[in-house]
Amino acid sequence: MKKVILTGDRPTGKLHIGHYVGSLKNRVALQNTGNYDPYIMIADQQALTDNARDPEKIRNSLIQVALDYLAVGIDPEKSTIFVQSQIPALTELTSYYLNLVTVSRLERNPTVKAEIQQKNFERSIPAGFFVYPVSQTADITAFKANLVPVGDDQEPMIEQAREIVRSFNTIYGKDILVEPEGIFPPKGEGRLPGLDGNAKMSKSLGNCIYLSDDADTLRKKVMSMYTDPDHIHVEDPGKIEGNMVFTYLDIFGTDKSEIAELKKHYQEGGLGDVKIKRYLNEILEAEFAPIRKKRAEFAQDIPAVYDILKKGSEKANKVAEQTLAEVRGAIGVNYFG
Ligand code: TRP
Repeated sequence: MKKVILTGDRPTGKLHIGHYVGSLKNRVALQNTGNYDPYIMIADQQALTDNARDPEKIRNSLIQVALDYLAVGIDPEKSTIFVQSQIPALTELTSYYLNLVTVSRLERNPTVKAEIQQKNFERSIPAGFFVYPVSQTADITAFKANLVPVGDDQEPMIEQAREIVRSFNTIYGKDILVEPEGIFPPKGEGRLPGLDGNAKMSKSLGNCIYLSDDADTLRKKVMSMYTDPDHIHVEDPGKIEGNMVFTYLDIFGTDKSEIAELKKHYQEGGLGDVKIKRYLNEILEAEFAPIRKKRAEFAQDIPAVYDILKKGSEKANKVAEQTLAEVRGAIGVNYFG
């Protein structure tokens, strides 16, 4: 049997090239090996845990994320793309798993902790948000996923899922649930910094290049990138460290020797920012123009995209229902056969 992969994204906006580098590219590669059975979930219910008052944002983002998926090459013939809220079994599984975690354990989750701080929730954190790692365990276990490719920030979620799986299997005496493993990006490669030099590309920081950006927007954004603020005149020696153009070239460039030359020249002085930005723009344009084109094609027929999500959700629902039946049986709440 093929190993099952499950992963997903919260639909709170369009996806950017940080998502592409950090996870989408790898998902497509895993999908195309043909060695796995991948499930890709749009986590609209999880997105609602801290956006309950803005459902329109989630509704709109859902289709944007679906377009981003299709554009980068997630292929509905090879991967099951589905919508979390359309799988009722996930919610029921969550309710059983909630009894296997304590409030203090939830409070220790470092990612949730950081998010609570970022969002200034303090004690007014929505209860649904607080327990989202448990619902994420339901997402993973419903499909008996073996592998969960995610960013580094999701490591605590995988750990919590593993604990819940172990508790469940111990208490209910059966090997019903599968203990998942995370797949993380190689150290230092998972996170694309923002255009402004911030450690993270993120919508709330306004420092993103979106997969949907047109050529002109892309070029303008590249031209605005943070470089070396002390590199004022072309003749000045420039710094590579913390210079976003070179950081991006290291990630997206393929001609490593040419990049090494450019770095040397820049450090010595005599190479202007405009030149290196143009060079980077060409590389990004080559990588993202085909994705942008594919995205625009899919966007011509939105009902067809919804249909892909509907079919994927129907298939996912069957699998999750089967797991739920086993879980109910293990707990013994299957009174009527
Ligand atoms: N929390 C994940 C994120 O923000 C999205 C997600 C929801 C997810 N359920 C999941 C990821 C299950 C992996 C497995 O990126």
